[in-house]
Amino acid sequence: MGNNIAIICSGGDVSGMNPALKHFVEYTKANKLTPYFVYDGYEGLIKNHIKEASYQDVAGIINRGGTKIGSARSKRFEDAKYRQIAKNNLDALDIDMLIVLGGDGSFRGLHTFYKEHGVKFCGIPSTIDNDIEGTDYCLGVDTALNIIKTSIDAIRDTASSFSRAFVVETMGRDCGYLALITHITSGSELCLIPEKKYDLKNYEEKFIQEREAGRRYFLAIVSEGIKQNSNEIAQWFEQKIGIESRVSVLGHIQRGGNPSIYDRLMAYKFVAFAIDGLLDGKDESVICYTKKGFEYKSIENVAFKKKTLDEELLKYLE
Ligand code: F6P
Repeated sequence: MGNNIAIICSGGDVSGMNPALKHFVEYTKANKLTPYFVYDGYEGLIKNHIKEASYQDVAGIINRGGTKIGSARSKRFEDAKYRQIAKNNLDALDIDMLIVLGGDGSFRGLHTFYKEHGVKFCGIPSTIDNDIEGTDYCLGVDTALNIIKTSIDAIRDTASSFSRAFVVETMGRDCGYLALITHITSGSELCLIPEKKYDLKNYEEKFIQEREAGRRYFLAIVSEGIKQNSNEIAQWFEQKIGIESRVSVLGHIQRGGNPSIYDRLMAYKFVAFAIDGLLDGKDESVICYTKKGFEYKSIENVAFKKKTLDEELLKYLE
């Protein structure tokens, strides 16, 4: 085994990546390894945008969202020809261990790379969607939830003042985790997520009665993955419940911002476990966090299965 190890951010960036980069440099050096940064995701592997990392590179980044080394979704890495170029670039620098901060698609990419070229890797689940099977927690989720919380608290101020219904759309692609946790923790009146069938008719009588009893406003948390458009939900509030409505699509603000304490801490732990795993002969794994603590899981059990939402959490929608 060589002494050179690289880290890559791939796919949607999350807050927590920068604290992870910082600890990567510290922990590799403490273990007498030489740290490298791969810039701009797998594209950086192909373009040979790989540089040795220093303490200076990571000074003053712990409080910054996003990732200092950039991230990307690389189409070219799906092509064997470009993966060969990536391998040649790593060989030239004698790098045979990779850590990737990303989602299941990114892990599948490195799985293919490992099968073809034997480059060892450990994945660190990183996506605000929290949609990776095998882990209860993905880096960036806590910061995203806190940003949503702050936004909803502000929206509540205007909704209650102006007697309106607000349909707040959260990210998550096909996963309703962000919306569901927000619903539970913000006390919203309605939550619509792709994992749970719904019929708006079922809410009509209750909401109309609440209006008659004096309710001034409604908050509806809607995940971007549901079939209906958020504007349709707002129209439903206007037409069926009889309350003026607005839509607020939170969008990419959920992906950025000052990393929360929890994400900083998780970044440190994920990185340390990933490096320990690679040094301990775990050649192809993902470091997952569950009620049992941190565990190394195989790619098959993480990147090739669909995540389902926790039944206990789903009960809050009943
Ligand atoms: O996977 C993270 C995520 O932010 C999703 O929640 C969202 O659907 C998607 O990425 C947005 O992608 P893009 O940044 O390419 O618009």
